Amino acid sequence: MLVTGKEILMHADKNGYAVGAFNVVNMEMTQAIVAAAEEEKAPVIIQTTEGALKYAGIEYLAAMIKLAAKKASVPVALHLDHGTSFKTAMNCIRNGWTSVMIDGSHFPFEENVAVTKQVVDAAHSCGVSVEAELGRLGGIEDNISVSEKDALFTDPQEAHDFVEQTGVDSLAIAIGTAHGKYKGVPKLDLDRLKTIKNDLKMPIVLHGASGVAYDDITKAIGLGVNKINIDTDLRVAYTDKVREILGNDPDVFDLRKICGPARDNVKAAVIEKLRLFGASGKA
Ligand code: G3H
Ligand code: 13P
Ligand code: ZN
Repeated sequence: MLVTGKEILMHADKNGYAVGAFNVVNMEMTQAIVAAAEEEKAPVIIQTTEGALKYAGIEYLAAMIKLAAKKASVPVALHLDHGTSFKTAMNCIRNGWTSVMIDGSHFPFEENVAVTKQVVDAAHSCGVSVEAELGRLGGIEDNISVSEKDALFTDPQEAHDFVEQTGVDSLAIAIGTAHGKYKGVPKLDLDRLKTIKNDLKMPIVLHGASGVAYDDITKAIGLGVNKINIDTDLRVAYTDKVREILGNDPDVFDLRKICGPARDNVKAAVIEKLRLFGASGKA
């Protein structure tokens, strides 16, 4: 069933687990995620970036993901990941997305508040929930200094003011993760997470979670992370299998014999994450 992001995240917050939010660009990824969620009886979020919308076309993704969600025996939310403008957020809402992210994290605080508030006002009038981001992710080294941390990571007081001024439903925070493949293992600022969660008492989102130590993921969930974004690990699961098949048989050209096993491999990767996030059995 297709549900709102808010419904899924409130349940996770109340019950102390994290919902897996997985990025898709095609049918195989979508089917793999829904099949894994159904098998694990876990609520799930399927999300698309602006790059995915450009690649597949918003109408194709809308039709495919809404069909997958409606047929699913578990709650599924359709979420816009890292929306960069009011226009994209509204386009997704018009096409049936049940949750949107407006990412104004690269703007100065006041501008981030302004664009987020504009999206929140419009989205809430349509029953759609909104995620925003405060702080900077990406390119973060292991041995980051305290002053660099304070400049990049989410400031707890700013987070408080941001939520008060925007009315956002969930907040993505910067505590040491980055998008893509890490060179080493990232160190998370879990004390910062604890301070922010204890103050806000609302769903907190962790981006760039591929490659983060499982122990840190578990600790972060214990401290109040309720949505965990995974893209890279699923891309790797898919393409590793494609490479293996093509490497084993240079004559294979039937797409079903290449993309079918890749889909199975993504499903297995999603099941592993859902168990790690404590989401299995929660639907
Ligand atoms: O943050 C989200 C993704 O990992 C980047 O996705 O390449 O579709 O923009 P994209
Ligand atoms: P990874 O690609 O590092 O898993 O990050 C995913 C993400 O944050 C999507 O918004
Ligand atoms: Zn992200």
